[in-house]
Amino acid sequence: MYRSRPVGNLNSDALSFSSSMDDDVDLFFYDILGSQAHVIMLFESHILTQKEVVDILKGLNQLLSNPEQLNKHGINSSEDIHEMIESAIIKITGIDSGGKMHTARSRNDQVVLDIRMKLRDDINSICSEILRLVRSLVRVAEANVDTIMPMYTHLQQAQLGVLSQYMLSYCYSLIRNFERYYDAFTRINFSPLGACAIGGSSMDIDREKVATMLGFSGIIYNSVDATSSRDFLIEFISICLTTMLDLCRMSEDFILWSTSEFGFIILDDKYSSSSSAMPQKKNPDPLELIRGKTATIQGNLVSISSIMKGLPSGYSRDLQELKPLLWKTSSTLRNSIKIMEGVVSTLFVDKKAAYNSSSKSYAIALDIAEQLIKEGNISFRVAHKVIGALVESASGRGNIPMNTLSVDDIAVVLKKIDFSHPILTSEKIYRTVQSITPENSIKLRHTKGSPNKNEQFFMITHLKNVLYRYENNLEHRIEGLNKMQKSLIDRIKYLIDQEYP
Ligand code: ARG
Repeated sequence: MYRSRPVGNLNSDALSFSSSMDDDVDLFFYDILGSQAHVIMLFESHILTQKEVVDILKGLNQLLSNPEQLNKHGINSSEDIHEMIESAIIKITGIDSGGKMHTARSRNDQVVLDIRMKLRDDINSICSEILRLVRSLVRVAEANVDTIMPMYTHLQQAQLGVLSQYMLSYCYSLIRNFERYYDAFTRINFSPLGACAIGGSSMDIDREKVATMLGFSGIIYNSVDATSSRDFLIEFISICLTTMLDLCRMSEDFILWSTSEFGFIILDDKYSSSSSAMPQKKNPDPLELIRGKTATIQGNLVSISSIMKGLPSGYSRDLQELKPLLWKTSSTLRNSIKIMEGVVSTLFVDKKAAYNSSSKSYAIALDIAEQLIKEGNISFRVAHKVIGALVESASGRGNIPMNTLSVDDIAVVLKKIDFSHPILTSEKIYRTVQSITPENSIKLRHTKGSPNKNEQFFMITHLKNVLYRYENNLEHRIEGLNKMQKSLIDRIKYLIDQEYP
């Protein structure tokens, strides 16, 4: 339809190579909405007559309620959804009305308008999925404030903790990502429409009016910026990657904890696959796939920034390649959060297994060392040495727990490292070791944000308040967009009814 200068049709291979129709399906709804707001503005700016605007609005409504009519009326050789819709409208309304729809507009501002509109909705649904997941994590945390388990660094037992501490750590990280999306929305929520191809228009259009009709908070002022910039998209994908990395870490933790070697959790059968060969197998495939898909999203971020790199200002067709990567990232993210929410809310926690592992663990070593500092007023480095020697002796005797060392065993170790102290005798150290049960280990550590029970309750309360606030904010934002859509639909109906009472 646009071939006013080139002679004849595009080569059929070149057409399918250039076409973005497959990726544009996701933009259909937004493209119609954007066109409706655009033509209403053209009418109110006295560029279209009432009959023309009504013809076009009716045609667009017709396509919206019967998308298959697009194929019937639109030109099959269209390179994208914008051309297809415009050609269908021209067919439905005639060239005199429909031919005016694209006045003071270009596909260059149109496509980025559509992308921004879709991204607003994607962000809102990702945000609500994140909050749902955080709610479930808080629920699991509440039920596990006293589920004692070893905590790991270098994947070696480090200190004792509680399962809730891990769940809450995921919440904080996810909430930061929620905040990033929520904030990125405010930069995405500007309309590029009216920037035209790159340099604006001589027609008397009202860019702000269209922006308001479509629920944007304003316009992207500079016409080159409006049509060329895709930084909002890189920002979005970056946040998708940090969110996936959260889910990836959770997946890896859950995969490890669900092995026979750890055995702290059991994944629900609904979220486990089986082996074709080994009948005993229950595999955490959905979690492994989250880990795998994180790599794909990481790749998408690299692809998108690479497509951008080296482009001059102004639209280039390279930008079309961004869309499939963007859609895929968005849907992968939504699905991954959903799956993770399912895994979390159906998780079985084997409290006994976690406790058993803790009670044998040398992860109480640091707690004992800190007690020695308090009881004998010795330096941390000396305490570190004494306890290190005790652990070495216990592990050398077949990994026996520290509380099975006798007074004599301790005396031998102290002698070996030449440690003598008026208060910290072998009897005293024996009693200290005995006093550090897994429960006491956690009770004694009372610093802010530690696994101590009071701290767990503090964090749970804090997160519940944050959730409540963010759920309200998000609902408000979604309502705002819904209201915008409703008032645009009402306006369209009013115009159509006026022409055809
Ligand atoms: N299909 C194109 C895209 O997705 C729309 C913009 C085309 N603009 C152009 N000047 N060829 O990016």
